[in-house]
Formats: sequence, C-alpha cells, structure tokens
Amino acid sequence: MDCVEIRGGKPLCGRVEIQGSKNAVLPILAACVLHEGTSRIDHCPRIQDVFDTIVILELLGCRVWWEGHCLAVDASQISQWQIPAQIAARMRSSILFLGALLGRMGKAELPYPGGCVLGARPVDLHIKAMKDLGAQVEEKEGCILAECRMPKGKEITLHFPSVGATENIILAAVRAEGVTVIKNAAREPEIGELCLFLREKGADIREFPEGRIEIIGGVRLRDSRHDLEADRIVAGTYMLAAAITGGCITINRMPENHMESVTAVFENMGIKIERIGCDVIVDGSRKRRNIGFLETAPYPGFPTDLQSPMMALLAVTEGESRIRENIFEARFKTAHQLKAMGADIELKEREAIIHGVPALHGTQVEAAELRGAAALFLAGLRAEGTTKICGCHYISRGYENICGILSDLGAEIVTVHQ
Ligand code: EPZ
Repeated sequence: MDCVEIRGGKPLCGRVEIQGSKNAVLPILAACVLHEGTSRIDHCPRIQDVFDTIVILELLGCRVWWEGHCLAVDASQISQWQIPAQIAARMRSSILFLGALLGRMGKAELPYPGGCVLGARPVDLHIKAMKDLGAQVEEKEGCILAECRMPKGKEITLHFPSVGATENIILAAVRAEGVTVIKNAAREPEIGELCLFLREKGADIREFPEGRIEIIGGVRLRDSRHDLEADRIVAGTYMLAAAITGGCITINRMPENHMESVTAVFENMGIKIERIGCDVIVDGSRKRRNIGFLETAPYPGFPTDLQSPMMALLAVTEGESRIRENIFEARFKTAHQLKAMGADIELKEREAIIHGVPALHGTQVEAAELRGAAALFLAGLRAEGTTKICGCHYISRGYENICGILSDLGAEIVTVHQ
C-alpha cells in the first residue's frame, strides 16, 4: 500500500476496536531478549514496526510465532548481539536493543536508529545512561558499540524525561548488579506497561509518582503472558475521524485512563463523548468550538503524536487556533501538505497558527512520517473530491488495517499501487 485515494465528505459511523499499543509493544519485544525462555503478548498489533522487530529478534536467535493475535517469543537461544543497519534504520525503537542486549549478552552493536524524521532525535541520553551503568560505549561510522560484562546499578537523573532513554535504562538495569534509580523518568503509559510486563516476568521494579523508578537487578525472570493495552494514539486518531467527518464512532477498548488530556480537548471543543460500559461513543455531528491554543508536552500533557492529526481537525474548525510543538523541533511538515488541500496555516518556529476554512479540496499529497500520514488520511476523509495520499507505507508502521477499518466506517478509500 503506497498510495491511497480517498473520496471525502462521508460522515463515518460504526464501531472500531482499538489495536494494541505500538509504543508499548516495541520496548516489550526488546525486553523479551532479557529472558532465556518464552514470553507471550496478547493483542499484539499486526503493524510493520512489529514485523520489522520480529526480524531483529529472529536475527538475534529468537523463535517468534503468532498464536492468533498473541505473539510468542522464545529467547532461550540468543547467539547474536549485532543488529544490521538496514533493518535498524527503519525505526527508532531499534535503539531499545542497546539496553536489552547489554543486559542479556553484555554487549551490543547497532547503528543509529532510523524512524520518523521529526528533528535531530539524538541518542545522547541513551548513551550517557549506558555509560552510567558501567558500559564502555564507542560510536564510530554511524554505529554504537557497547560492552559491559555486568552492568552495575546506579542513580541516573535524566535532564529530559525521554521515553526511549527511560526504557533503555530499565532494560539494561533488570539484569544489572544492584539497584538502579531513574530520576525524572518519562511517565508515558508505555513506561508503566513495560514495567508491568517485566514484573509479570518476576522483575522487581517500583514506580513512584514523581517520575522516579527503582529497578532491583539480578532477579531471575520467568515465562509470562502479557495483555497489551490499547493504543491511545490510534484511539485518538479514530476519535478525530468522527469529529472531522461529522460522524459518530463507537470505540471499543479505548484506553481512556491514559487519554485525559485528549478527551479534555475534545470536550472543550464541544465534541460529545459518551461512555457506555467499556465503549466510548464520539459524536462529531454537533458544531465544534475552537480551542484557541494547544501545546504538546510529556505525559500527562497533550501527546505530540496527536499534534498533526489534531491540526487536520483545526484546519476545518472555524476561528483561529495555535498549536505549539514542544517535543520535536521539526514536526510541522504535514502543514505544507494540508495547505496544498486549502488549509490556512502559518508556521512560526515552534508554533502553527491555523485559521479554520469551510472546506478542504482533494489533491495529491505526500506523507513524510507516520502521524503526518494519519493527519492526511483525516484531511482526505473531510475534503471535497478525491485526495491521493502517497507515502502510505508510513501509516502501515503504526495503524493496523486502517483502510479496512475506515472503509467499514463508511469511507470511500482505495489503495493504489503505482
Ligand atoms: C517515543 O519516541 C515514541 N516512539 C514517539 O512516538 C513519541 O513521539 C515520543 O516517545 C514522545 O512521546 C516510540 O515509543 C517508539 P523521546 P522517543 O526520547 O523515545 C529528545 C510515533 O509516532 N532526545 O521522549 O524517541 C528528542 O530529540 C513516535 O509513534 C534527546 O535529545 O522520544 C525529542 O526532542 C514518534 N536525546 C525529545 O527528547 C535523547 O537521547 C523526546 O524524545 C533522546 C531524546
């Protein structure tokens, strides 16, 4: 699927069950390497980033197989500690094998990670933390070479609550000697889920409210089965699909307890959200209010991953709104594509000033990263006429069966192979 054509203007109605969380399962799959046995993950999403991570696990010596929507990983026979560049370059989360392999093998060799180009995305915090745990780390020719016979627990303070760096420290600390304390750790739900997965395997990890995590290393791990949380960014994307098309979508498996900042924005805009049992019904049929100002922030703030999809909605919401992107320095690329569809957006450094227009018009646009692709899908669902979105391989990295789901909700969407 590299291009899709969407004929816009149809209110989407129906029901969608939210897939397992991409950003939770990727560190969990790396964590499987820490255990000489089998780990099972229920509700594992069938998305490209998972498929690519399975390739990495198999290259390291793991056996991996599907049992329906459950993914099983047998990491009893790991023989490798190097990750080939061509696979690691596809996604940012390949960096998480740094901590996992150091923990399991005492060494790791991997290229700088790839993934969505949202700015520089350095890995300095990751590398400094591995050094803090006693690793020798060399960076040469675009590769990271780390070695440490036995990582030693330490108190590590992150100057920024980096999600990936927090995950890497946890992965390396589980099999380290002694206690590791992380201060100013990221608090995204995916961190809690990684800790839960590891506790289910017997690890001794304690989380404290002020962004402090304690890992007591050296505990023997065991086989386990984990039920993956639903993906809060995918859920937010389908909520936006109801709002932008004026439809009504029932969302099953909505991780509402991790979406307070998102649902608050919807309710402030006058978008009706009703809870019935474990379903959430999003009704976008009523007139929306503008939000005025929105900024992204580390959890529990508004997630940066919904910034571009929200921009698509604000592009067709009357009045002026401003979005400030505080996490990534280059996450407004999609604005240029939305402007080609008729959106009125002005970019000023870290801010986008948006004046809502009555309609967008279909044209050919190009996705450049995962959540930007989702924003273009949303804009296409609203636009008059047909929108051809190229670069759709980005969206298959994180959204399982999005074309099938949108079509079931009433969208006129076809994949175009060119
Ligand atoms: C994770 O990326 C997510 N990816 C991102 O989702 C998400 O946007 C991001 O967290 C923030 O929530 C996965 O979980 C696979 P960070 P990560 O380290 O770990 C800077 C998506 O669309 N930084 O918290 O890379 C960095 O440049 C993806 O699903 C350093 O300076 O995020 C950025 O400005 C996109 N040095 C900020 O911190 C470092 O060593 C946040 O990065 C690490 C990060």
